[in-house]
Amino acid sequence: MFAQLIKEILAQAPQSQEVKICGWVRTRREMKNLVFVEVNDGSCLAGIQCTFDRGTAAFPAETDAALAALSTGAAVAIEGHLIASPASGQAVEVAAQSLRIIGEAPAENRDAQPAYLATPAYPLQKKRHSLEFLREIAHLRPRTNTFGAVARVRNRMAFAIHQYFQQQNFQYINTPIITAGDAEGAGAMFQVTTLDVEDLAKSGARQIDHAKDFFGKKTFLTVSGQLEAETYAAALSRVYTFGPTFRAENSNTARHLAEFWMVEPEIAFAGLENDMALAEDFLKFIFKTALVDCAEDLAFFDAHIEKGIIETLTRVVNAQFAHITYTDAIGELEKAAGKSIVFEFKPQWGCDLQSEHEKYLTEKVAGGPVIVTDYPKDIKAFYMKQNDDGKTVRAMDVLVPRLGEIIGGSQREENLEKLCRRMLEMGMKLEDYAWYLDTRRYGTIPHAGFGLGFERLIQYITGMANIRDVIPYPRAVGQADF
Ligand code: 4AD
Ligand code: MG
Repeated sequence: MFAQLIKEILAQAPQSQEVKICGWVRTRREMKNLVFVEVNDGSCLAGIQCTFDRGTAAFPAETDAALAALSTGAAVAIEGHLIASPASGQAVEVAAQSLRIIGEAPAENRDAQPAYLATPAYPLQKKRHSLEFLREIAHLRPRTNTFGAVARVRNRMAFAIHQYFQQQNFQYINTPIITAGDAEGAGAMFQVTTLDVEDLAKSGARQIDHAKDFFGKKTFLTVSGQLEAETYAAALSRVYTFGPTFRAENSNTARHLAEFWMVEPEIAFAGLENDMALAEDFLKFIFKTALVDCAEDLAFFDAHIEKGIIETLTRVVNAQFAHITYTDAIGELEKAAGKSIVFEFKPQWGCDLQSEHEKYLTEKVAGGPVIVTDYPKDIKAFYMKQNDDGKTVRAMDVLVPRLGEIIGGSQREENLEKLCRRMLEMGMKLEDYAWYLDTRRYGTIPHAGFGLGFERLIQYITGMANIRDVIPYPRAVGQADF
């Protein structure tokens, strides 16, 4: 069997039962004959204190030697008895009998030979490290409180997403990662090829023959699983995807990644109202789950990362999301700009909402989450249902304070003729989307869906300011380390 996890041990009543702890040493303190070793195994935020009493008769010599060699970062196995802790701040501790160092974290030794054995000092010494520094050691940062907590919240929220949709009879579908089409029509795609580009450059080729490429055509990493999800919603009624998506946008911001995970439900026989109700109910379920099941980690984020995060989430769970049309939103922003508010980007009808605008709308106009609907068609994707005004589409973005857009969705244009006309207007080749258009040709239905950026969700729940700190190994412009 495995050693028990610290999370499992901390849930037990202390009755001097034998326990075995495996984990990594966070701290080591000495007081006369007593040695206190704090061990963490990542199963929960809390570590467990293991107390060694070297003064007891027949204290094992191996343990004594191991204690002398023990340093922060070492992997250890400790056996002892679980007892009520006399110290404050912890209910239980381990009266430890034996200690085995499984993997040491040796002191700095830069001159070791051969050179590949050279070891700088363990970078995670007991002090506050900056998030920027930790980004440079992204392979070690999960051993810190902050990144352990982020990983656990991420894990629980991924499960909550499946729980929510499964309870509502949505079918989980896996959409392709390599695709020939641009689902958002925005052109920010990474090309996938097995052609040897260096060879091509050397041979002086002026044109690329994509027929010779792996798939016999030009292919990319997907920006969204939506189009494929739509075809499955047009057969299974309620579906969702949850997978990686890729965008080669040159946005070097705290809320953009080049590789991120997206959750995309798609519902048949449904319009924008259903879509918005689903988005609100879904987010509330997720936040409620976080508050209950990630309470320890959220308390940590509240205390050390972003004050008030628990209160904010609680308020959102109990609030009703505000609704405003894009046109009214612009009206509010223009009004604000006409008074004393200074925006870097002047708000005017037709412009994309900038994060400063989103911030104003959530924090000042709505005082909480707000769903903005009916955007100008020219700033939204080709597939959105066209309104009768000829100018706007049935889009909806869910904006939340501090972060801005967390969800983007829409009702889809189900009318074949209108959809084709719009695609042609936008310069798209209909033959590339023949399979997609078939859903409108045979048994077409009103349908809607949305996309939730998983990392934006985790940012919102944890209060982490930079999106690069809520995914294990971030990919962004100029950054593909690890
Ligand atoms: O608004 P977006 O671009 O919508 C779509 O992709 C639709 N196909 C979704 C749908 O209707 N099925 O992206 C959806 C969400 C955004 O609201 C945001 O949370 C997140 O995905 N997102 C990003 N997250 C991190 N980095 C990026 N570069 C992101 N771009 C979008
Ligand atoms: Mg969007």
